[in-house]
Amino acid sequence: MSRLPPVLQALPLPVIASPMFIVSTPELVIAQCKAGVVGSMPALNARPAAQLDDWLAEITETLAAHDRAHPQRPAAPFAINQIVHRSNDRLAHDMAVIEKYKVPIVITSLGAQVEVNQSVHGWGGVVLHDIINNAFAHKAVDKGADGLIAVAAGAGGHAGVKSPFALLQEIRQWFDGPVALSGAIATGDAVLAAQAAGADFAYIGSAFIATREARATDAYKQAIVQGSSDDIVYSNLFTGVHGNYLAPSIVAAGLDPANLPVSDPGKMNFGGDAAKAWKDIWGCGQGIGAIDRVLSTAELVQRLDREYRAARARLALNG
Ligand SMILES: Cc1cc2nc3c(=O)[nH]c(=O)nc-3n(C[C@H](O)[C@H](O)[C@H](O)COP(=O)(O)O)c2cc1C
Repeated sequence: MSRLPPVLQALPLPVIASPMFIVSTPELVIAQCKAGVVGSMPALNARPAAQLDDWLAEITETLAAHDRAHPQRPAAPFAINQIVHRSNDRLAHDMAVIEKYKVPIVITSLGAQVEVNQSVHGWGGVVLHDIINNAFAHKAVDKGADGLIAVAAGAGGHAGVKSPFALLQEIRQWFDGPVALSGAIATGDAVLAAQAAGADFAYIGSAFIATREARATDAYKQAIVQGSSDDIVYSNLFTGVHGNYLAPSIVAAGLDPANLPVSDPGKMNFGGDAAKAWKDIWGCGQGIGAIDRVLSTAELVQRLDREYRAARARLALNG
């Protein structure tokens, strides 16, 4: 019997596209799911809150129509991200809309809550919770999360500081449920490496920013195409939680990436003000050296798939 819940079994490629603040919209989610990877977006990207209902209607109806037209290659399931933090005053509203559409996978970040997990289980959904260390992983599972997203060093947006090897090894000592690895994964080889190190899935964000369907400016996409890990700055200034950002956007905001002030974590804010203040600071992980052009989402997933299969074949030959 598979260790994985049915909704996460039989993906053509073991990849979950991560939710990205501002960047992910229904257009990107639908393209990801049609291409065969789990697509996702934060509920908070729908603004005003009432838009979430329209967006979930669009995603569910479009994917259902796709499945009717392509029964031999149905779309992968989709996920909605909930920021479970006290500064998110939309949590109850957004949970009600997510329940209305019986969203198959809910990704929770910045706080694990028993009530949220129980609601999702009530409609048969699966909760994946993102964590940056083993202690938070224990808390998340104790509170009822079904699976974990191990956010290692080098991830875009809020990121940890742990080596993926250390983090996965510690989690796998006690947890055999679904685990996705997050942080700087942008090639099919790295997807296979994540599995070899103990993850079930690779969790990929930044590579999808440089796709045609992503809601990012051309300048942001070009910074990813041209950038490498040398251009990524780790700071807690922009939200109160440490994350990785593209240096050129920090320079454009009039700040010196090498001398950023340290923020007060008590001022953590994920509400509308934070979105306005830091709209032009570009979140990004360290894996972008692998991105050399803007592609369609389908083309990016095809590349990952090609590389993943080639890496598997190469290792099998060498073995
Ligand atoms: C621009 C950007 C915005 C992000 N916003 C969110 C978010 O709203 N919620 C969340 O759980 N993770 C968010 N993340 C983190 C991703 O979910 C994921 O951990 C990360 O993208 C994986 O690393 P990678 O970008 O190196 O592939 C964001 C990442 C980026 C790059």
